[in-house]
Formats: sequence, structure tokens, C-alpha cells
Amino acid sequence: MASKKLRRTGLSVELCDRLKRHQIENCQDLLSLTPIEVMRLAGQSYQQVLVLLKSVSQSCAPSMTTALEVWKQRADLCFSTSLPGLDRLLQGGLSRGTLTEVTGPSGCGKSQMCMMLSVLATLPKSMGGLDSGVIYIDTESAFSAERLLEIAQSRFPDYFSKERVLEMAGRVHVFRELTCQDLLNRLKRLDEDIISSKAGLVILDSVASVVRKEYDTSLPGNLAHRSNLLGQEAATLKYLAQAFRIPVVLTNQITTHVGDGGERGAVSFTGVPSEEGSGYVTAALGNTWSHSVNTRLIFQYVDARQRQIVIAKSPVAPFAVLNYSVQKEGIRLEGNYDNQEVAHQGTDPGLQPIRVWTGFNYNLMKDTCAASGQLKLL
Ligand SMILES: Nc1ncnc2c1ncn2[C@@H]1O[C@H](COP(=O)(O)OP(=O)(O)OP(=O)(O)O)[C@@H](O)[C@H]1O
Ligand SMILES: [Mg+2]
Repeated sequence: MASKKLRRTGLSVELCDRLKRHQIENCQDLLSLTPIEVMRLAGQSYQQVLVLLKSVSQSCAPSMTTALEVWKQRADLCFSTSLPGLDRLLQGGLSRGTLTEVTGPSGCGKSQMCMMLSVLATLPKSMGGLDSGVIYIDTESAFSAERLLEIAQSRFPDYFSKERVLEMAGRVHVFRELTCQDLLNRLKRLDEDIISSKAGLVILDSVASVVRKEYDTSLPGNLAHRSNLLGQEAATLKYLAQAFRIPVVLTNQITTHVGDGGERGAVSFTGVPSEEGSGYVTAALGNTWSHSVNTRLIFQYVDARQRQIVIAKSPVAPFAVLNYSVQKEGIRLEGNYDNQEVAHQGTDPGLQPIRVWTGFNYNLMKDTCAASGQLKLL
């Protein structure tokens, strides 16, 4: 809540504008200053500054609630994924006020999931939706309006008439942000966009692509800068999720670790258990980032057609695996999970190995790279 904008704390517009000229925009910026510094920047007396700091602290302090109140509101706190097996494990669906990460190899259906969730959010509450707008931040130019409409009409053919599907598309607000700075700027002013578009869902597809494009972590200093940037993004997204009590969904990529896979029960590039020491794949952005998300869903390959959703981290669900495929109507679970045992043995979500499918010989690539001195961790 320290990321809460000063404008949303009840301060006068003149004072907010004056502080903004000194790059003081949110509660944290102001509360990190001494009263003397605030006196100088705000042009106020010592007594006025003490009152000001007290009121800003109160406005950003999290309010107290009882477990009973939370339990009574539980039906309102979830956003159904329309995948009954997944919803059941997640105790109703994606939790509002939290960050859900969808990670996995390229082409496994992360963006399809995001587009499907966008359609679901616009549905009326009687159909399990949020009856709201959607903010879709696309950093990979992967969003497809044609696909959004196709998913809507294929998944809910009785509901989405020609007029309704166009109305639905008008409620999905797409922002293309292709650099780290543009993305951070967008996130920092997203509260205004959420209010103006009446958004009940925020999607960031993907958090990794711009960061990985701009920060080569093998260069000195870049890892620290990247961590700092990711920390700011996570804090802002968490604030937005909590302040507006909405689910925030973000996608992440995978990274390849070479050489010590045997220790972590690695799986190879062709989806079968690998020989010791041949490497493994995990979610990108490191272990620290994995702590920033509340729920981590891994989308992974079993073979060229069959795929799996792994609940790798959740405050409410056990480690579990469900089969799915990507269809015209979006993501479809395969099999009946009502009575089926789906829980498996998990590991640290930041180190959870991920199955990918490329069909080429991984050991051959490793040998070639090692010989040419190109082997490095991404
Ligand atoms: N109309 C459709 N019907 C069925 N499957 C589709 C359709 N459109 C796309 N797909 C499938 O969706 C998959 C691509 O999914 P998606 O674009 O979500 O991948 P991704 O995980 O976001 O990858 P990346 O990390 O590269 O962004 C492909 O397997 C493709 O076959
Ligand atoms: Mg994608």
C-alpha cells in the first residue's frame, strides 16, 4: 500500500502537484522524507507537516479485518477460470487482490489463457464473470483481437451474438509497452486506467520479455538493476491488486540451466527424464521473483499435443498437475478431475523443473556450445 498515489489519499490537488514537481508521487516517497524535508518541499509549518504525515500514514496502512469476515466474503474473492478442476483446487479460482503468474515454454498457451481470462472477466456475474473491463498490457505484440473474438464465440456460442462479442471486445483495453521504462511508466499510472476503463482484471503478457531483452545479466551491475526494476513492478502490481481488489495475471518465460540438472530431478528438452548432469529448465527471472507472485501456474508439454498445468505455488492449493489442450475455445482440461487424485510431490517453486518440447537433441547442443565457449546461464 506504500505505492498508493498521494492523489488517492485525500491531499489537495495543489499540494500533490507541488510535491510531484519534486518527484514525490506516492506514500512511500513522502514517508521516506524527514519532517524538515517535507516542510521545505510542501511549504508548510512543522505542525502542518506532522498532521500531513499522520494522515498519509493512516491512509496507506492496511486495514484490519477478521478471518470470519474474509471467510464470509470468499465467494466474492475469486475469479473463476471456467476450468472446474483448476477452480476446485484453487478454492474457487484466481484470487482477487493477488498476483497469479502463468509460466512455461513458448507456444504452450500462456497468451491463449490470458485472452480466455479476458473474455471471462467481461461476462455477467450470473455466468461466473466479473462484468468488468480488462486491462491487457502486451509487451510481446502477441495479443490477437481475432483470437479473442474466436475464443468468446466458440466458448459461449449461445451468449456471444455478433453485437455482444463486439461489445466485449470494446471492454478489453490493450496497451502495447515494448520497453522496460514504458512498462514501468504504464504501471505507475495504471490506477487511473483501471478506474476509467472499469477494469476488474489486469493482465501483463509478459513480465519477462522486455526485461530479458534489455538486461544481459552476465554484464556487471545488470542483475542488481534488473532486480530493482522487477521489485518496483511487483510492488506496483501488488498495490493495484490490493487497492482495487482485482486479480492480476502475468506471464513469465523459462530459462535453461546447464550442467547440474541431475541434482534437481531434471527433465530433458524432449520431455523424458534426462541423464544426470544434462541440465534443466525453470521459470525465468530467478528465485527472488518467484517470491513476488502469490500463485504460480506452470504450463508445460507432455508431448506435441498433450500439455499440463502444474500448480507449483499457491497459498490455498497443494502441488497438483492437470492435463489440458489448446482448442478453438481456448484452454480445455482433459479428463475428469472431480474424483481423480491430482496431487504430486512438488519442490521449491522457484526451482521446479519444467517440461519443454522441441524435439532436438539437447546433449548435442550442449556439447557444441561448450566447445565454442558459448555456454552460459540466461
Ligand atoms: N485457433 C486456435 N485453435 C487451436 N489452437 C490454437 C489456436 N490459436 C492458437 N492455438 C495454439 O496456441 C498455442 C500458442 O499459444 P500461445 O501463443 O498462448 O503461446 P505462449 O505460451 O504465449 O508462447 P510465448 O511464450 O512464445 O508467448 C499453439 O500451440 C497454437 O497451436
Ligand atoms: Mg505469449
